Formats: sequence, C-alpha cells, structure tokens
Amino acid sequence: MRKKRFLITGGCGFIGSQVLKNLIKTPHEIFVIDNLSTGDWSWILERRIDLKICDIRSKDALNYIANVAPHYVIHLAAQTDIPTSIEQQQLDADINILGTLNVLLACKKVANFERFVFASSAAVYGNNTDLPLNEESQKQPQSPYGMSKSMCEQYLSLNENMDGFPYCALRFANVYGNKPLAKKDVISNFWDKLAHQKAPTIFGSGKQTRDFIFVEDIAEALILAIDIKKSGVYNVSTNEQTSINEVFQNISNLLQIELDPVRKAPRLGDVYNSCLSNQKFKEATGWEPTYILQTGLEKLREIKMKETLHATKNSDVVI
Ligand SMILES: NC(=O)c1ccc[n+]([C@@H]2O[C@H](COP(=O)([O-])OP(=O)(O)OC[C@H]3O[C@@H](n4cnc5c(N)ncnc54)[C@H](O)[C@@H]3O)[C@@H](O)[C@H]2O)c1
Repeated sequence: MRKKRFLITGGCGFIGSQVLKNLIKTPHEIFVIDNLSTGDWSWILERRIDLKICDIRSKDALNYIANVAPHYVIHLAAQTDIPTSIEQQQLDADINILGTLNVLLACKKVANFERFVFASSAAVYGNNTDLPLNEESQKQPQSPYGMSKSMCEQYLSLNENMDGFPYCALRFANVYGNKPLAKKDVISNFWDKLAHQKAPTIFGSGKQTRDFIFVEDIAEALILAIDIKKSGVYNVSTNEQTSINEVFQNISNLLQIELDPVRKAPRLGDVYNSCLSNQKFKEATGWEPTYILQTGLEKLREIKMKETLHATKNSDVVI
C-alpha cells in the first residue's frame, strides 16, 4: 500500500475520531484540523497524528493545507446542531458553507490532490416522503443546516464541472454510537435517561421512523469513498426503517429497564419517516453496513461497559 497523506477536518469529533481510529491502523500519514469547539483531543491520544488547532475559516487552515499538501481530505468539520442552525443562520452558513469553500479552494491549489470526501446529510432531503430516498430524489431541506449541506454539494459539483475537481459527498442517515453526553441524538438520549432510571420523552406517536447507522460503518464508508473513481453524491445508510417506539423498546430490553416513556406533542419541523437507499454506494465500493440496529446497540453496550469498567478501575486507585 502506497503511503498517502490524509487530512481530516473535524477529526476530534464524534465521527472524526472513529475515522482516525481506523486510519491509524494503516501506514498513511494523518493530519487533523479542528478548532475543538465540540471535539475533544483526549479521545485520540496518538502521537502519529498531527493536529492543527484552528478554524476551517482561517488563514491558518489555508496555510496548513498548503504545507501538508494532502492527497485526500475527509471534510467533517461543521456546525452540526439543527436548532443552532435555525437560531444562528449566519453562523451556520459561515462555518458550513464558507468554511467548506475555504477548505475546497485550498485543496484545489494542492498538486497531486486526489479526492475531497464531504460529510453531507439526509437533511438535504428534508420532508421528501418518497421512500426509500435515492440520490436522484428531490432535495427539500427543512433547516439552514440541510440547506448548507445542499449548497456545499452544489459547490463541489460546480468545481468538478469547471475543472474536474475530484469529490465524493456522502449523505449520512442518522448516525449513532458512543457520543459524548453533550451531543444527544435520540439513541444517546434514551440510553442516558434509561441508564439513570429516568423516563425518556417521545414526541408524537413514536411511530415516526429513522434509518439508523452505526458510526463504525460510517467511518469505514468515509475511507472507502477515497477510491470511488466517479465524483458525485452517495447515500450511506442501512436502508432500514426503525420507529422511535422500537428504538425505545430495544434499548429498554438491552438495559433491562421497564419504564414508560413520557409522551409529548410532536415537534414542529420533525421529519416523519426517513429511509435512504444505499444501493449506489454499495455498487461503487462493495461496502455493506456491518451492523443492523440491534447489533449496533449491543456493540454500544459493550463499549459503554468497558468505559465504565475503566473508569471504576481508575477511581479505585488510592493516592
Ligand atoms: N452525526 C450525525 O448523525 C451526522 C449525520 C449526517 C451528517 N453528519 C456530518 O458529519 C460531520 C461530523 O459530524 P459529527 O457528528 O462527528 O459532529 P461533531 O460535532 O462531533 O464533530 C465536528 C468536529 O468539527 C469541529 N469543528 C466544528 N466547527 C469547526 C470549525 N469552524 N473549524 C474547525 N473545526 C470545527 C468540532 O470541534 C468537532 O470536532 C459533520 O459535517 C456533520 O454535519 C453527521
């Protein structure tokens, strides 16, 4: 395997740190840009990774990219919170659109640059109910966050049309895994509440569905995407729908906790059903998701048990 230079923006985040765990098993050189706004460097603890703490919108980031001259960029750094994107639309656009453009334009100046892999999202489809959604399905973003991802895809496509800029935009379904507490998706939220014997809240009937994909499958997909020869957009998903009620039941069973959820009115703007076809990405890479929701949740339990054991061992040390 020829040694290449990988730059991961947002490498200290939830998905980025999983990508790094996979990449450090390879001989490639690894570089990270992260401003640590939501990411945490202590997750990584690997000397082989060169971390530049800076903002993707900064001149420092441009200079770093020029110096590193990466072959591949996996661009994950973003403002990822949908409510924040609604409350602070300019900030969201600044980080997600202008920040991405900053990184993209810097990559265009790198000689021998091979591919830009962009973390897009199912949020670009918004409330499109023509399930399962494929890459040709109409984009109908319902939030500034979804809009920003859609805009970035268009900038990438435009640059490919203008001068063959090689890219691949992956539209992730709902990613779950061992997230830090501050970053709650529905699975982390239910898990945390139930583990503390508290009843989680289900908004609406709970019959609304999502396509849940385990973070390890996403990390693998991001690395495989560098070898896709045809620029374009690809869904990365399980192609399975699970209702919020089923998620609640699965986690309750795994933790062996019997509690009724608190039921509240549906939230405005919530997508009702979501499911993404992963056919195109499978055909392009041979990738298959390793985990279905049940096995992903079991793996999550294993990771969390190890963490607890580790924390208990450390707190047993008498000074
Ligand atoms: N987690 C999901 O369910 C999901 C779904 C679809 C798409 N995505 C996309 O995947 C990517 C990674 O998401 P995540 O869940 O790991 O989020 P995360 O918040 O855990 O990671 C984002 C990382 O980017 C860094 N960052 C943020 N703004 C920055 C800036 N201006 N300059 C430099 N670094 C900055 C943060 O410190 C963090 O380490 C994002 O682009 C997100 O939009 C995530």
